Amino acid sequence: MDRNLAMEAVRVTEMAAIASARLMGRGTKNESDQAAVDAMRRAFDALYIDGTVVIGEGERDEAPMLYIGEKVGRRSEGVPEVDIALDPLEGTNLAAYGRPGAISVVAMAGKGNLLNAPDTYMEKLAVGPRARGAIDLRRSPTDNLRAIAERKKVYVEDLTVVILDRERHVELIKEVRAAGARIRLIEDGDVAGAISTCFEETGVDVLMGIGGAPEGVITAAAIRCVGGDMQGRLKPRSQEEIDRAKTMGITDIGKIYTAEELARGEVMFAATGVTSGDFLKGVRFFGGGCETHSVVMRSKTGTVRFVQSVHKFDKKPGYAL
Ligand code: FBP
Repeated sequence: MDRNLAMEAVRVTEMAAIASARLMGRGTKNESDQAAVDAMRRAFDALYIDGTVVIGEGERDEAPMLYIGEKVGRRSEGVPEVDIALDPLEGTNLAAYGRPGAISVVAMAGKGNLLNAPDTYMEKLAVGPRARGAIDLRRSPTDNLRAIAERKKVYVEDLTVVILDRERHVELIKEVRAAGARIRLIEDGDVAGAISTCFEETGVDVLMGIGGAPEGVITAAAIRCVGGDMQGRLKPRSQEEIDRAKTMGITDIGKIYTAEELARGEVMFAATGVTSGDFLKGVRFFGGGCETHSVVMRSKTGTVRFVQSVHKFDKKPGYAL
């Protein structure tokens, strides 16, 4: 994969972000999501890839577009074969209520390199490059915080931990507070929360807690591009979810996955802000156009590009209302 596909994939996340940003704050999460899905699906048609969605909107019977196994891209002789993990609108509620941190994301890797994660939960621990190697899901949150603080040469009290604000995290939050670290509770969007750990200016040091497993694979791709670190362990909620994971080829349900195991080989990642968050601004509309902010990165080179784009609706009728 010599082509930097992420530079092209950013058009796909831009289109999805613009479409869903138009519906920001309407309180209609399904419509926001659908707008992002439709736009992303259309945008893929212009991308010269032979792509297969491995993390998408769900199974074929429940998601008519961008379902798991769907072929996307403009296939022709010699185009790269890639597996794709996507979320046209990560943080549907955030966008529906105009809250910070909704993004549109696409990750790509060579065939078979992205874990086919079942639609269940995953316990995640993610840090940026400066704390690489300091995390271990087998240890307690307190031990992890101490190791991260030591690696970053700061006090535990100086660390900021991002945690999804969920009932299931009551004990985790209690422990992190007792350890002395600062907490930023987020309503949704643990992909952006985890990626924030890789950008110093966000002030976020670590993501802890349980979120979606498919989101875990997308996160791993991003973290690998920036040289951060992540571990994930599936947390199925029922026997049905365990069985489902097994049919997807996962034999050891309790396995702790590293970022390298969740997203192997060369990976690429593109994300566009829908609503403004820690590391990406949201879509801003103005007369005749709009502006988007995206991040594009790939593991091969470690280059991180922030792309600020101005879109003119008269030149791109597809973006206009
Ligand atoms: P959606 O965009 O699909 O709504 O997901 C948002 C999200 O907050 C993810 O970032 C996170 O991994 C997951 O939902 C957590 O799931 P739950 O809301 O069930 O706790």
